[in-house]
Amino acid sequence: MKEIDLITKIESLSFEELSQKERDAVMAARDAILGAYTPYSHFKVGAAIVLDNGETVTGANQENVAFPSGTCAERSACFYAGARYPNAKFELIAIAALGTDGKPTEPPTAPCGACRQSLLEYELRAGHNVPVLLAGRTTIYRLPSVKSLLPLSFTEF
Ligand code: THU
Repeated sequence: MKEIDLITKIESLSFEELSQKERDAVMAARDAILGAYTPYSHFKVGAAIVLDNGETVTGANQENVAFPSGTCAERSACFYAGARYPNAKFELIAIAALGTDGKPTEPPTAPCGACRQSLLEYELRAGHNVPVLLAGRTTIYRLPSVKSLLPLSFTEF
């Protein structure tokens, strides 16, 4: 028998420790929360995706009375980025959330499994690692890639 260890490296930083580009992405994700439509869960998420064409595309979760018909912030952002700028490569992703108490989450909110798989598609299309910032109230988790959030991912069929 052979054991395989999967190691996910997470850097935990303060906002002040981020580069200007990272700070801008976190602020864009936080701003994007304003677009969340969450009358059912009251949990609000914003996502910002920095593209190599200089654009930053944002998204927020959108809920629906027919429950599964809504979508998460990360997927609203990555699908819009793909549709609007099909040739642009993802460079950086930032995610922020407000809990049901209306306060920024701490520890930071991490994307659901479906969003990890969806974001991974764009990392593969970019052909390089796309760092992910998970922005909490005071703590920012920085992951080196989407793949590091989904180590045993489904990548081909
Ligand atoms: N949600 C996101 O927007 N992103 C995630 O990765 C996890 C969950 C949303 C979906 C739903 O509107 C609310 O948070 C509660 O699950």
